[in-house]
Amino acid sequence: MILDPEDLGPRETYKFLTASVVPRPIAWVSTVSADGVNNLAPFSFYTVASRDPATLVISVGERTDDQAPEKDTLRNIEDTREFVVNVVSVSLANAMHESSLNHAPEADEFRAAGLSAAKSELVAAPRISEARISTECRLDGIIPIGSDHLVLGRAVRFHILDDLYKSGRVDLEALDPLGRLAGNYTKLGGIFNLPM
Ligand SMILES: Cc1cc2nc3c(=O)[nH]c(=O)nc-3n(C[C@H](O)[C@H](O)[C@H](O)COP(=O)(O)O)c2cc1C
Repeated sequence: MILDPEDLGPRETYKFLTASVVPRPIAWVSTVSADGVNNLAPFSFYTVASRDPATLVISVGERTDDQAPEKDTLRNIEDTREFVVNVVSVSLANAMHESSLNHAPEADEFRAAGLSAAKSELVAAPRISEARISTECRLDGIIPIGSDHLVLGRAVRFHILDDLYKSGRVDLEALDPLGRLAGNYTKLGGIFNLPM
C-alpha cells in the first residue's frame, strides 16, 4: 500500500507518523517562566541534534486549547533561553503523564505531578530531583517548521545518579527508560548486540 500524506490529511498523517517513528525517547522538559513559575512537559519528538557540541532537539507543536498562543515550554525557553531535559524512567511514568495535561501557565507542574525541583548548576530551570539523568541546556536556536518549532539546546551539564555511571557506561537496565509508541508506551524488553 502506498499512502500520500496530502490524501491522508494532517490528522491521519500525524497518526501514521507517530506509529511509524517508534519507539521514541521522551524529553521531559523543565523550564521556568520569566515570573519564576516552574513548568514541566514531555516531548517525544526528540533526539540528539549534534554530538559536538552536544546538542539536543525537541519539536514543540501548537497549543491545543485557547489558553495561550503557544505552549508554556516554548514561551519559557524563548524568554529565558534555558531548559533541562530529564529522562523518564518507568517508575516516573504516571508523574510524566500528569505533567502533560494542560495546566494554567501559573500552575507549578512539579507540585501537580508530586515531584520535587532540584537546583541546576548552570541554568535557572530546575531539574527533576527524582530523574536518574538530567541535562542542562542553553538555547542554541529555534527553527519554525510547519506547525511546529524545533528547539535546539546546547548541553552544558549532565546529571546522573552515581550508581548508573561506571567506566564511562550508563547502566540502561537501571535507567529503565520509558518509550513512546503511537498513543501508548513501551519499556525495555531486552538489550542485545548484533549480529545475533
Ligand atoms: C509522552 C508524550 C509526548 C509528547 N510529545 C510531544 C511533542 O513531541 N511535541 C509537542 O508539542 N507536544 C507533545 N506532547 C504534549 C505536551 O506534553 C503537552 O501539550 C503539554 O501540555 C505541553 O505543556 P506546556 O504548555 O507546559 O509546555 C506529548 C505528550 C506526551 C504525554
